[in-house]
Amino acid sequence: MNSAPRVRKAVIPAAGLGTRFLPATKAMPKEMLPVVDKPAIQYVVQEAVSAGLQDILMITGRNKRALEDHFDRVPVTEQLLEAKGDGDRLAAVQHATKLGDIHYVRQGDPKGLGHAVLRAKTHVGDEPFAVLLGDDLIDERDELLTTMMEVQAKTGGSVVALIEVDPSMISAYGCADIEPIEGEDYVRVRELVEKPSVADAPSNLAIIGRYVLHQRVFDVLEDTAPGRGGEIQLTDALQTLAASDGEGGGVYGVVFRGRRYDTGDKLSYLKAVVTLSCENEELGPDLRKWLGEYTAQLTE
Ligand code: UTP
Repeated sequence: MNSAPRVRKAVIPAAGLGTRFLPATKAMPKEMLPVVDKPAIQYVVQEAVSAGLQDILMITGRNKRALEDHFDRVPVTEQLLEAKGDGDRLAAVQHATKLGDIHYVRQGDPKGLGHAVLRAKTHVGDEPFAVLLGDDLIDERDELLTTMMEVQAKTGGSVVALIEVDPSMISAYGCADIEPIEGEDYVRVRELVEKPSVADAPSNLAIIGRYVLHQRVFDVLEDTAPGRGGEIQLTDALQTLAASDGEGGGVYGVVFRGRRYDTGDKLSYLKAVVTLSCENEELGPDLRKWLGEYTAQLTE
């Protein structure tokens, strides 16, 4: 058993330009796009807090003020709701301000996910930490982050979350070449490739936006040259760690089979909103009924 310290801090990179969502993201971060009745980023912060990670560092940039405002108090609105006796809305507004202890640092130039994670070096210090991407939502009914933290504690390395995708889709993701570990429900990652061609992909296991990383990743990122798209890729740094022994070496994978919603591009965002709205207690019954009638009319 490894004596790795407990994971206490979560890093949420949210400094990307969101070009796939232009023009919606011209003046607003894509992480603020509403999913049912909350911005996407609130689901991610809630997930970190539910896993026991109260200390959250958000990596932000230009045009990202709305993120800080969302997790701050709004005294005038709160007083108004209180005066009206609208307790439900008041609780909903205040909920976001009571989630964890959120810190912010700017990335400056968005030079890639690896570069964004490196901005967390001072805040994280000498301990393992979690990274949660704001455009990947994991259903709160399914467990992932806690399992990944357990694997990190056990192995002392870094841990990625993997999903099985249709082989034709693998070039949209980072891809992992893995080997099973006897008696364990996690795998060893031999190699990671960012967005391989379908023919070159070593598997159909795609990396999704949850990581639990050993702090050694910071030193590796400092020496990682820009890769695909001219950006400093986290996948490239993890590839270095996968091939490395010694303290903090080794990358492991947890294959996630639960519900995940991708909100990073327009079509998958729309699917996420429809799926989660249909499952919503308050809105679901009416929406499902309407959707049934609407789709029937489309196929008439
Ligand atoms: P994406 O690859 O989705 O990039 O980043 P993006 O810029 O947000 O979106 P598109 O592709 O232009 O539409 C994955 C995650 O990494 C963060 C993003 O905010 C997102 O959560 N990121 C990416 C940064 O924080 N900084 C970067 O330089 C790049």
